[in-house]
Amino acid sequence: MSTTNTAASDLVSVTVADADPAPRTLAHDVHDGLTQPFKQLPPKHLYDDHGSDLFHAICDLPEYYPTRTERAILVERAEQIAELTGAVDLVELGSGFATKTGVLLDALKRAGTLERFVPLDVSAPTVHHCAGEVAAEFGIPVHGIVGDFERDLGLIPAPIGPRIVAILGGTLGNLQAGSRRHFLSRLRGLLDTDGRLLVGIDLVKDPAVIELAYNDAAGVTSAFNRNVLTVINRELGADFPVDEYEHVAFFDHENEWIDIRLRAVRDHAVRIEALDLTVRFAAREELRTEISSKFTRERIAADLAAAGLELEDLLTDADGLFGLALAKVA
Ligand code: AVJ
Repeated sequence: MSTTNTAASDLVSVTVADADPAPRTLAHDVHDGLTQPFKQLPPKHLYDDHGSDLFHAICDLPEYYPTRTERAILVERAEQIAELTGAVDLVELGSGFATKTGVLLDALKRAGTLERFVPLDVSAPTVHHCAGEVAAEFGIPVHGIVGDFERDLGLIPAPIGPRIVAILGGTLGNLQAGSRRHFLSRLRGLLDTDGRLLVGIDLVKDPAVIELAYNDAAGVTSAFNRNVLTVINRELGADFPVDEYEHVAFFDHENEWIDIRLRAVRDHAVRIEALDLTVRFAAREELRTEISSKFTRERIAADLAAAGLELEDLLTDADGLFGLALAKVA
């Protein structure tokens, strides 16, 4: 771990958990995930620099409603959130370029309470860029953290007053129910009794609308999905024939999640040099790369309750596409 003050601004400091947190767990996750009958990988490995760029392109797609809907809810309700929370400190997990967070920071600044911003993301260039921008625009100290929010929450500084911990965009939906509740209870540990959790959740709705959002006409989601194979090829010396996998995304009604997979076009073997491992794929065999859970009010309330948190409000758009859950310590 190292902390540096960058030249960009005296207000910016960045703590790096690990030179590059992803590769360390990649080998383990690939070994675990590809040596079981149903192959699967955790979604965090989708986000190398190229994957992060592709994800940002997804956010602007006409079919992908979550990003613009969440932003619209924030624009509409930021003032109310600022008033209710009186937050001096905003911690954002998986902050990306923090474009939506700007809306919240703006409202906190206007309310006169804003004192600090703490963005945490796996991508180092993203954290540096966003920390510099926020410090310059808002004139407040920014403490960036480059790390994995499932592992590095301990690097987040103690609250300096009422705090909001935000995890936006529907990222929570990547976790399965048990891990989600465990993760939420760890987030509760970042809050004092005057703190709030702000969680972006995609809502259960017409499955056709959901499926379109993950099967865009331009094929950006497909490229994003297949990029994980490029990451494994590069980092672990593997020889996945990336173009011979098809993107698959469907709504699983029983689990109420989008299930995202890569389907091998033909029967073949993949060599993963760094693991001294050969993996067979049958023709049409699928590898799960991501789940993205969709929520009802009941479901998020139950998850929060299991983590010692109480759903205070669920802010949604008029069409009920997306929600921002505001929770406090129970
Ligand atoms: C970043 C996890 C919220 O699940 O909608 C978008 C990722 N994957 N398209 C989502 C994603 C394919 C996204 N999250």
